[in-house]
Amino acid sequence: MTKVLMVCLGNICRSPLAEGILRSKLDSSKYEIDSAGTSNQHEGSLPDQRSIEVARDYGLDITNQRSRPFVKEDFKRFDHIFVMDTSNYEDILDLAETQEDRNKVSLILDKIFPGENESVPDPYHNSIDGFKQVYEMLEESCSVIAKEWDKS
Ligand code: 4NP
Repeated sequence: MTKVLMVCLGNICRSPLAEGILRSKLDSSKYEIDSAGTSNQHEGSLPDQRSIEVARDYGLDITNQRSRPFVKEDFKRFDHIFVMDTSNYEDILDLAETQEDRNKVSLILDKIFPGENESVPDPYHNSIDGFKQVYEMLEESCSVIAKEWDKS
């Protein structure tokens, strides 16, 4: 079983979409996908209504998800940790204790813009269009991930 964690700040806008999208592309008997936030501010909450709506427009139901904070044990539990932006990257690396932990962490947009240090913009204060743009970026990155892994 390969275990994948998607991480953003609140775990209500971007990483729930990333979790739902990647889950829809991979075989659940081989891949476990989860998501978490660097902050615990929204712990226990449903994804943001705008993420729920955009996901639904693309045929995905993400209403089974609830926000939870990232915990240090996640480094041991997961094989890959995809972060949405450079600030999440710094926050997660600050919690890493070993090089093995650090090696698990990467920016999700590296999959489509390798080496460019690109971030998925935080859509929280944006309109629904910002959420659609986030969805499309994540869809592209998750397609690359699924293609790479389906071959291995
Ligand atoms: P997310 O978006 O990190 O994609 O879940 C945000 C959600 C909540 C806040 C900021 C970003 N907030 O400031 O409450």
